[in-house]
Amino acid sequence: MVDLRDRDALEQIFASTKFDAVIHFAGMKAVGESVQKPLLYYNNNLIGTITLLEVMAAHGCKKLVFSSSATVYGWPKEVPCTEEFPLSAANPYGRTKLTIEEICRDVQHADPDWKIILLRYFNPVGAHPSGYIGEDPRGIPNNLMPFIQQVAVGRRPALTVFGTDYNTVDGTGVRDYIHVVDLADGHIAALLKLEEANIGCVVYNLGTGKGTSVLEMVRAFEQASGKQIPLVKAGRRPGDAEIVYASTKKAERELKWKAKYGIDEMCRDQWNWASQNPYGYGSPDSSD
Ligand code: UFG
Repeated sequence: MVDLRDRDALEQIFASTKFDAVIHFAGMKAVGESVQKPLLYYNNNLIGTITLLEVMAAHGCKKLVFSSSATVYGWPKEVPCTEEFPLSAANPYGRTKLTIEEICRDVQHADPDWKIILLRYFNPVGAHPSGYIGEDPRGIPNNLMPFIQQVAVGRRPALTVFGTDYNTVDGTGVRDYIHVVDLADGHIAALLKLEEANIGCVVYNLGTGKGTSVLEMVRAFEQASGKQIPLVKAGRRPGDAEIVYASTKKAERELKWKAKYGIDEMCRDQWNWASQNPYGYGSPDSSD
């Protein structure tokens, strides 16, 4: 494992093997932390990516899949979000995603040998169905599903629901949750697409096209786990959008990819992982 900003280490890796393509997932992703420590995010996400692109080009590897985010849609004026929507950034994390997308477009424009696919993830959740691989955030989880999971296994007393006055089905925020296995399949589809001629720099949403509220997700998790999730209602979280979900048409048409799983499977697999590994990869002593 190397830090992408460590050019010498990266050079050595590219000198040792000929890579067909790179999938770049190596970014920091906590919105709140990015507001507290913007330079950390700009340094890690931007410098890491620029160094990677430079070293790839120097070694003649010019095919890239980059993990972008639905965060670049900000608070969308309408849904579903299509890839052509106007883009914005509400925090430094989002600004790094937006900036990297623009860097990629510029790099490909300057050198048409590059083929770049920008994948805008919606809300990845769930775990591998084996129960061996899952998310294990350190500290207090920022995101909904890891938080629900920790309440279900008894590590936290209750889920705080951020905002109950949105203009949605039950007043809580609506998102497009996507099973991590579907998300992984989307990357395979993108790698195959990189084999086609003249794709340029192209962007695809990876979502299901379906919106689910916080309370709907809680109910689905309760069903899958048989556990009750106590709720504490709170005000809106700053920077949160009301409703965000994807248009999936472009990915279906051009990547021949479509999400297979719904929220029941996402909750089933997440609970399978959580119940077998209540402390993730750690132990009760090593974990907070
Ligand atoms: N929520 C709660 N309580 C929690 C955590 C979340 O009610 O403890 C709510 C949020 O308010 C939101 C929904 O659950 O309505 C989903 O929140 P997440 O934090 O799980 O996900 P976000 O949609 O806020 O953020 C995700 C990624 C970001 C990315 C963003 C793009 O985590 O990296 O999608 O829209 F930027």
